[in-house]
Amino acid sequence: MVMVKVAPSILSADFSRLGDEIKRLEREGADWIHIDVMDGVFVPNITIGQSVVKSLRPFTALPFDVHLMITKPERYVKEFADAGADYITFHQEACGCIPSVLDDIHSFGKKAGLSINPETPFNTIEPYMDKIDLLLIMTVHPGFGGQAFMSECLPKVAEARRLVDENGYCMEISVDGGINYNTGKTAVSTGASVLAAGSAIFKAPDMKMEISRWHDL
Ligand code: DX5
Ligand code: ZN
Repeated sequence: MVMVKVAPSILSADFSRLGDEIKRLEREGADWIHIDVMDGVFVPNITIGQSVVKSLRPFTALPFDVHLMITKPERYVKEFADAGADYITFHQEACGCIPSVLDDIHSFGKKAGLSINPETPFNTIEPYMDKIDLLLIMTVHPGFGGQAFMSECLPKVAEARRLVDENGYCMEISVDGGINYNTGKTAVSTGASVLAAGSAIFKAPDMKMEISRWHDL
């Protein structure tokens, strides 16, 4: 049994001291740093861009799991690759040329992720399962932290796990949105291997203990 990876989202961090917050996440046992990039068009919120990712890169050696919630992500693959992203994940709904964006990400030596919104059916990403390194299944409508987990997204996690196991694909299955200890436990037992979470990690009274008990899910 492989240990669950915990990917805290810095969307819930103190934005005035992101470098320190990232160092703290590393100290408390995070596996990846989940970075939510929003453009105010694909989602109704604006967060951070490639220059911030670049300035955060020296603060940790942990993988940067960059979640692009932007339209036409093909415009910015190189920028985020150069800024130091390790995983570059874009949305199925935001892009008309999925195979070429996946190739592009790989051509920069980065891991490629594909994400789907709650209302997007699983079969829209099925053709790409053998080409992606990460499937990011949204368990809230993207745009904001602190929303409630949508359990109706779980069948997609189960379907992804079935295909990965049957075909031996080498990829992570991540869930993102409303993840806490209990919803994380359900997601992991359904097949998730990565838990992306903001509020539950940053609001935990003891972050180290919280991350550690998620590792045991
Ligand atoms: C939402 C983002 C999430 C967000 C999760 O659009 O993609 O990564 O930070 O926040 P919580 O864990 O608070 O739901
Ligand atoms: Zn995210």
